[in-house]
Amino acid sequence: MLSSVLSHLPKTHPWREHIIWFDSIDSTNTHAKALAAAGAPHGTILLAGHQTQGRGRMGRSFHSPESKGIYLSVILRPDCPPAGLMHLTCAAGTAMCDAVEAVCGIRPGVKWINDLVLRRRKVGGILTELALRADGTVDHAVVGIGINCSQSAGDFPEDIAHIAGSLAMLTGKEVDRALLAAEMIRALQSMSTALLTDKKAILSQYRSDCVTLGKQVRLMGNRTDRGYALDVDEDGALIVGLHDGSVTTVQSGEVSVRGLYGYSD
Ligand code: BTN
Repeated sequence: MLSSVLSHLPKTHPWREHIIWFDSIDSTNTHAKALAAAGAPHGTILLAGHQTQGRGRMGRSFHSPESKGIYLSVILRPDCPPAGLMHLTCAAGTAMCDAVEAVCGIRPGVKWINDLVLRRRKVGGILTELALRADGTVDHAVVGIGINCSQSAGDFPEDIAHIAGSLAMLTGKEVDRALLAAEMIRALQSMSTALLTDKKAILSQYRSDCVTLGKQVRLMGNRTDRGYALDVDEDGALIVGLHDGSVTTVQSGEVSVRGLYGYSD
């Protein structure tokens, strides 16, 4: 697999020499964090054929069966305070839309903040984890991405079968996983160079990719408020107009979108 991925990357690609392949691993994010703490450079990529403990946001697991998806983490070392990276997950989401579009000819959307969505099904997710130094500056970020490529409906566990889909299921075409992994690496590298300088353009593209905007939403957590998703702010937070007329900003947590993943009441 690694040689196929490399065959799709330009010989001059700056991250070419930093790609590590694992047939099987617990979690590429967990391992990336350990490598980063030990000094691995910016642009180190971990790719796995299978994860035994793939992790998602909010303590969830990410189903990572062998040879059916792409499980990738990248170590980034941006030189900025943590507040300068609030939009990182959005930037990675838009980069992943670029990569999938380049390979499949169809652009997925992003359900705020980190789900890749195609034809109303979750085809992937992004898990961003930051490590700070003692002085509060960013030591590194790990951005982990899982994309379901060739699963059929019966391959998903029962609890996510009504939500999840794969690119092959939803496009009707097989996906070249090595090519998609290479496109993801290219898109992530471009994203990392623009991350701090082109924040406005990145967020403008994210707003156009974000399928949550303009939809009725339900905020989870300790509130069960409903409202409309109005905008994404300059930090990537979701601005929601609530039914009582107030406006709230959601930084993290779960937001259900009417018409997606079975929310219809
Ligand atoms: C989510 O859906 O909440 C995020 C899923 C992120 C999954 C990817 S797969 C590669 C990397 N390693 C992990 O353990 N998680 C991320």
